[in-house]
Amino acid sequence: MSNKTITLINNSDGRKTELPLYKGTIGPEVMDIGKLYSEMGIFTFDPGFLATGSCRSSITYIDGDKGKLWYRGYPIEQLAEHAKFLEVAYLLLYGELPSVDELAKFEHIITHHSMLNETLKNFFDGFHYNAHPMAVMVGVVGSLSAFYHDSLDVNNPRHREISAHRMIAKMPTIAAASYKHNIGEPLVYPRNDLDYCANFLHMMFATPCEEYIPDPVATKAVNLLFILHADHEQNASTSTVRLAGSSHANPFACLASGIASLWGPSHGGANEAVLDMLNKIGDAANVDKFILKAKDPNDPFRLMGFGHRVYKNHDPRATIIRKVCHELLDSMTDSDNPTFELALKLEEVALSDEYFVERKLYPNVDFYSGIIYRALNIPRSMFTVMFAIARTVGWMAHWMEMMDDPDQRIGRPRQIYTGHDLRDYVPMDKR
Ligand code: ACO
Repeated sequence: MSNKTITLINNSDGRKTELPLYKGTIGPEVMDIGKLYSEMGIFTFDPGFLATGSCRSSITYIDGDKGKLWYRGYPIEQLAEHAKFLEVAYLLLYGELPSVDELAKFEHIITHHSMLNETLKNFFDGFHYNAHPMAVMVGVVGSLSAFYHDSLDVNNPRHREISAHRMIAKMPTIAAASYKHNIGEPLVYPRNDLDYCANFLHMMFATPCEEYIPDPVATKAVNLLFILHADHEQNASTSTVRLAGSSHANPFACLASGIASLWGPSHGGANEAVLDMLNKIGDAANVDKFILKAKDPNDPFRLMGFGHRVYKNHDPRATIIRKVCHELLDSMTDSDNPTFELALKLEEVALSDEYFVERKLYPNVDFYSGIIYRALNIPRSMFTVMFAIARTVGWMAHWMEMMDDPDQRIGRPRQIYTGHDLRDYVPMDKR
């Protein structure tokens, strides 16, 4: 930690304070404003946390100006090319890549926690048949705290680890069950001979009527997409999980709140919204019209899958997915994919338009992920659910890191109050 400070002077009353400046391994310096109120009597104001760090974290590093994303120091490009999803999950949870034995043990634990309590299956029947799978996910994941009383002591590191294993193991089963409920098919049990991604595809697409063999191309694509979505430092849903957990709420409740936040179209819901948008645009001839709508400040329409709070150069995940989109669609018999062609056209027009260039609006990870999922026959309503399965690893890693952090306190932002000044109660007959 450096001894650097920054001096702050309030010009209206002359009060002065020295605030410590911190530096992480890499990245900009950070001013510690913890003493600001006690010493200067003022709060900071930063809606949307544009310039506010909420914690110390050693999990993921992003340089938005240079388009860099690292998990525990490893660039996303290398992990995407070489790693298995559960290997990345281990890395995010424990900080190091696993040895052969460590990975085998971890895979064994995750595989052997993938079944759901039979009673939990009744929960799915409580939802209307056409409930959105994300709505079901929020409810079912939240309900897990009613099942695991044996390991709910959030102050016990071993209990926290068991909860993380359970969540990572059960998310694909819950996700596939939400889908099966939605289409009226029987829930499919996990298979322990399949790896994480193949097992998910099995639970999504198998039926009791015939054998299902997961397609290796589809399994590889899911593995890649899960790695790319596994963590992204203090994004909205991860911050939601941390804030919920800061009150020492149980991890299942925290995760349910993260899933709810992820569902919003400005965050993980964007992958579903991108396909809706592409369907609405329909044809390359309509692209210019929609670009005009996106630029119109009086029109709420935005180009979904474009722009990012942190990336102001390119989203490295989008670069990887774009390439895989090409390879995957080329390897499929239906290589003439009009949706992908339309997406490429939209991207080309937007990237040469001054409005998007000036604002540094580039395609983000979700611009292409839906196109891949669609090519794999994953229904649109499941796109954000796929994101949630992968991000569960990041959510749990952040929750465990937060619970271990000696600086951890309940999250409690302040505000600028803009309501009435003090006034007296007016009796009903005088209003
Ligand atoms: N289409 C058109 N204009 C846009 C878009 C877009 N997709 N995104 C931002 N802008 C414009 C804004 O209108 C604003 O213009 P102005 O300066 O003239 O007012 C400017 O670019 C800056 O945008 P902000 O909304 O201030 O940027 P912010 O960082 O708050 O929002 C966000 C980032 C939410 C991702 C935004 O770009 C967006 O809504 N994109 C579409 C939804 C999306 O794809 N979300 C997924 C993000 S990735 C993820 O969560 C996995």
